[in-house]
Amino acid sequence: MSEMTRRSVFLDEIGLGPLWLRRDGGLASAEPIEADMAPAEAIPAAALHGQQLEPVMQNRAEISAWGGDEPISAPPAVVHAANSPAAMDWTQLQTAVAGCTACGLCHGRKNTVFGVGDSKAKWLFIGEGPGRNEDIQGEPFVGPAGKLLDNILLAMGLKRGDNAYIANVVKCRPTDGTGRDRPPAADEVAACMPYLQRQIELIQPTILVALGKTAALSLLGLDPATPVSKLRGTVHRYADRPLVVTYHPAYLLRQLGDKGKVWSDLCLAMSTYANAGE
Ligand code: URA
Repeated sequence: MSEMTRRSVFLDEIGLGPLWLRRDGGLASAEPIEADMAPAEAIPAAALHGQQLEPVMQNRAEISAWGGDEPISAPPAVVHAANSPAAMDWTQLQTAVAGCTACGLCHGRKNTVFGVGDSKAKWLFIGEGPGRNEDIQGEPFVGPAGKLLDNILLAMGLKRGDNAYIANVVKCRPTDGTGRDRPPAADEVAACMPYLQRQIELIQPTILVALGKTAALSLLGLDPATPVSKLRGTVHRYADRPLVVTYHPAYLLRQLGDKGKVWSDLCLAMSTYANAGE
């Protein structure tokens, strides 16, 4: 089976087909660009951007999870992160995350979830935080949303561990009072961001893909009211690297009709990557 056929099969399997081929042999979006994909203003990354390695996020409200455009609310807080990850190497960072007590999420976790993949990957996919399955297994995206993400990666010619790294904004599972998954609160994001920032510095990816609202807003330091739909269709920058925003796979499982939009976003990411000369 040719590479293109393989991709086509995967796209069909995850409901993203038919796969349209450009005359030059490249992949093209399966759906036309839609009105709500109009590029947002190029928004300057705020406090969490660039080399800033201290936890900030003072004005960031609690972010509603899993990548949709749900409204968000709640007060911000600043939490002190563990000994500055800024100077750590990969092993030190893994150790620091494994023992982290910088926020309350440490009390309920079974495992920290550092990330998975090729630590020299050119592609970095960033989700929100571990859910139940990830907490048990200590690996990101191992539940149903993870299966969908794996299929999406395959359709892109990638797989976890092979030129792709998958990380989350927070490394411990956030749960509500009834033990159900919930989005991380602002103080939890603030406490954990220095780890992700250091992961990005050490991996040095060519491109970042933010999966859902929490990842996009945390990385870009945006107003929490910003919907994902306003961030799609534009190549943003994070620490001088291109960043493309798309819907979270878990959101996609609930909104199957948006799969074409995700594929459009990933086509944008793939062309951005290609233009970066990698
Ligand atoms: N959702 C996420 O954002 N990350 C995971 O690891 C699992 C589900």
